[in-house]
Amino acid sequence: MTRSKVSREFLYTQEDFEYIKKLVHEESGINLSDAKQDMVYSRLARRVRALKIADFKQYCNYLDSHHQDELVHAINAITTNLTHFFRENHHFDLLKQQIIPEIVKQQPRGKRIRIWSAGCSTGEEPYSIAISLKDALPNYSQWDCKILATDLDTNVIDTCNAGVYDNKRIEPIDERNAKRWFSPHPSHANRVIIDNELKKDISFKQLNLINDWPVKGPFDVIFCRNVVIYFDKPTQQKLFARYYDLLAPSGYLLLGHSEQLGQIQEKFNALGKTSFQKK
Ligand SMILES: C[S@@+](CC[C@H](N)C(=O)[O-])C[C@H]1O[C@@H](n2cnc3c(N)ncnc32)[C@H](O)[C@@H]1O
Repeated sequence: MTRSKVSREFLYTQEDFEYIKKLVHEESGINLSDAKQDMVYSRLARRVRALKIADFKQYCNYLDSHHQDELVHAINAITTNLTHFFRENHHFDLLKQQIIPEIVKQQPRGKRIRIWSAGCSTGEEPYSIAISLKDALPNYSQWDCKILATDLDTNVIDTCNAGVYDNKRIEPIDERNAKRWFSPHPSHANRVIIDNELKKDISFKQLNLINDWPVKGPFDVIFCRNVVIYFDKPTQQKLFARYYDLLAPSGYLLLGHSEQLGQIQEKFNALGKTSFQKK
């Protein structure tokens, strides 16, 4: 027995892990390798404790019998939500310096821009997109800009909607934009709150990327960064094909630094640094 297993509060067997792994894969596409066994324990032990359940076997039974309600908690606990403002900043430079000027010049669908932040986590990505649009678009108010921001995890969507962040989290934002879009929170020291003006063109929605999408498109840009690393290759390929269909002609697909398009890349021009333009 390893040290961590000896010190565990709840009994947790290989069989329990296999059960959770299968369920999580079916429900979210997230692929939990054996290396994630300890992570799964520590994230779900909180649920086992909160429900006053004896061990993981009983928790698996509970998941079986209270499927829909508990599944939301289990999936929320399993997702990895690491993000920050202007993460992988080269994509925001591309947006401001190439994509927006191109749309302004060509106006392929009039003064209309549609961007999807798929797997938006706690909102830093869509808010960074909104800040970039406000910066790059001359006469923003004359344009019809909409950002769709979606995530599987219901907790992170609540955080997006609240628009409240610790002071430290807005450090990557330049001073002018930090002052313009964030104010000290009225009742929480060391927190800031986002201006409603920045929020108003963003729709935050819970959406599971492996299910049907109530989404029309076409999108000028799809950000799907640091999401598909958790999926297996066939799930990634299906997802990319669906993004391709939803992108406007010459639309852009932006992935995370360690993600690759695979076979479908032949339908895109690679622009370097995980940025792709539909051919
Ligand atoms: C590491 S975060 C990335 C956040 C942001 N895109 C970034 O790059 O900073 C990955 C997000 O993908 C979401 N996610 C995982 N599986 C998903 C699925 N099947 N459908 C939608 N979102 C999913 C997680 O909940 C998590 O918030």
